[in-house]
Amino acid sequence: MPLSTSTFTFLLLLLLLSSLPLISPHGIVSNISSMDPYEKETLFQVMDSMSSDRDWRSSNPDPCAPGSSWPGLECKQAAPDGLLHVTRLDFGTPPGPTCRSAAAFPSLVFRLPHLRSLFFLDCFRANRTTLSVPTAPTPLLQQLSLRSNAALVGPIPPQLLSLASLQVLTLSQNGLSGAIPEGLSLLASLVHLDLSYNHLTGRIPAHIGRLASLQSLDLSYNSLSGTIPPSIGRLRSLQKLDLSSNSLSGAMPETLADLGQLTLLALSSNGLAGDFPGGLPRLRNLQCLLMDGNPMSVPLPSRLGRLPRLQELRLANSRYRGPIPGSLARLASLTALSLENNRLTGEIPRGLGRLGRMYHLNLSGNMLGGVVPFDARFLRRLGGNLDLSGNPGLCVDTSERYVGVKLGVDVCGAADDDDNNGTTSGSGGSSDGHQQLTGGSAGVCCDLSTLWLGISGALAVLHHWLLL
Ligand SMILES: *[C@@H]1O[C@H](CO)[C@@H](O)[C@H](O)[C@H]1NC(C)=O
Ligand SMILES: *[C@@H]1O[C@H](CO)[C@@H](O)[C@H](O)[C@H]1NC(C)=O
Ligand SMILES: *[C@@H]1O[C@H](CO)[C@@H](O)[C@H](O)[C@H]1NC(C)=O
Ligand SMILES: *[C@@H]1O[C@H](CO)[C@@H](O)[C@H](O)[C@H]1NC(C)=O
Repeated sequence: MPLSTSTFTFLLLLLLLSSLPLISPHGIVSNISSMDPYEKETLFQVMDSMSSDRDWRSSNPDPCAPGSSWPGLECKQAAPDGLLHVTRLDFGTPPGPTCRSAAAFPSLVFRLPHLRSLFFLDCFRANRTTLSVPTAPTPLLQQLSLRSNAALVGPIPPQLLSLASLQVLTLSQNGLSGAIPEGLSLLASLVHLDLSYNHLTGRIPAHIGRLASLQSLDLSYNSLSGTIPPSIGRLRSLQKLDLSSNSLSGAMPETLADLGQLTLLALSSNGLAGDFPGGLPRLRNLQCLLMDGNPMSVPLPSRLGRLPRLQELRLANSRYRGPIPGSLARLASLTALSLENNRLTGEIPRGLGRLGRMYHLNLSGNMLGGVVPFDARFLRRLGGNLDLSGNPGLCVDTSERYVGVKLGVDVCGAADDDDNNGTTSGSGGSSDGHQQLTGGSAGVCCDLSTLWLGISGALAVLHHWLLL
C-alpha cells in the first residue's frame, strides 16, 4: 500500500527533528552532557582546589547543564565542535561559591580553552600564593580580575603577556610586588588596566603609550618611582588616569595635555615638582584634578582657570607660592577647591565668591591677607565646608558677621587677642578654628563607578566589571 504524501511528509519531518539537537528555552543545546571530557576534568580540578564546597564534583556531574550550577559559571556552545564550553568563572561574588580558606592560585584555569572572563574576588587570604600563568594560556581571555586577595603575592608573571585578547586587567588590592613588566605595553586590546593597591616598584613602562585602546589606567597606591613617561600622551582614549600615592618625581610631561578625553587626573602624594604642562587648557573634558601632596614649589598658573569642565581642584600641601590666580573664578563648574597648606600670598580673588556651584573651599594654612570677599549668601551655602583659618593676615568685615559660620578669621580691626572670634558665635564649631568636614568631601567626579557609568554602554564586556 503506497504511503500518502501527507504521511510521508510527516515521517520526513519526524526524522529531521530527531536528528537536530534539542533547543532549550534558553537557546542552549540540551544535550547536557556534551562537554569536552578534558575540559570538564580541568574545571573539576579547578573547583577541587578553589571551592569551599567539597562535594562540588559529585553534586554537579554536568556543570554546564542549565540550572545545574551557580551563576558564576557560564558555559556557551561554540563552533566548530558544537560542545558546551566554560566561558566565565566568577569566584567570591555571591551567590558564587566562596573560596576555601587555603586556596592556592589555580594556574590550571588558564587551560580552559574558551574562557573569556575570570574573576577572583577576596579569594586568597590565608596561604600565600603566586599568580602563575602557564605558557600558552587560553588565547581568548578578555577579562581577568583578581581583586582583594591579600595573600596573592610575588611578581606579575611575564606569561600574562601572552593573554593577547585581554581588554580588562584588574589586579587591584593584592600583595603583588616587583616591576610592571615592560611587555605589558603589548597587550594592545586593553581598555582598562588597574594595578592599584599593591607593592609594585620600578618605573612605569616607557612604552605604555602603545596601549592605544586604554580608557582607564590606575597604578595608584604602589611604590613606583621615576618620571611619568612622555608616551602616556599617546593614550588618546584615556578618560581616567590615577597615579596617586607612588614615588613619582620630575615634572608632569608636556604630553599629558594631549589627553583630550581625560575626565580624572589624579597625581596626589608623589614627588612631582615644577610647572604644569603649557597645553593644560587642552584638557577640555577634565572634571577632577587631584594633585595634593607634591613638592611643586611653583606659583599657581593662571591657565588652571581655562579648564571649562573642572569640578574639583585639589592642590593642597604642595608648596605653591604667590597669589591665587583670579582666573579660577572662571571655573563655572567648580564644586570643590582645596589649596590648604601652601605658601599662597595676596588677597582671595573676589570672583571665587560668585562660583554658584562651590560647596567646599579650603584655603587654610597659607599666608593670604586682606578682607574676606565673600557675601553672607556664599558663607551660608558653604557653612562648615569653608575653611580660611591659619591665614593671620585675613580678616572679615563686620557686615558679614551675622551667619552661623566660623571662618577661623578675625574681624578686621579687632584686637589680636580676640582669638578666632571674628564671625559669629552661631552654630558652634570645633574650638581650634578648624571646622570639621562632616562626610561627603569627595566629589562626585572622583567616584570611579560614577565615572564609568558616564562611559557609553558600548563596552558590554565591561558590564560585569562595573558590578565588582
Ligand atoms: C550527547 O552527548 C553524549 C555524550 O557526550 C554523546 O554520546 C551523544 O552522541 C550526544 N548526542 C547528541 C544528539 O549530540
Ligand atoms: C595553609 O597554611 C597553613 C598554616 O600555615 C598550613 O598548615 C597549611 O598546610 C596550608 N595549606 C596549604 C594548602 O598550603
Ligand atoms: C582644611 O584643611 C585642613 C588641613 O588639611 C583640615 O584640617 C581642615 O579640616 C580642612 N577644612 C575643611 C573645612 O575641610
Ligand atoms: C567672642 O565674642 C563674644 C561677643 O562679641 C564675647 O562675649 C566672647 O567673650 C568672645 N570670646 C572670645 C574667646 O574672645
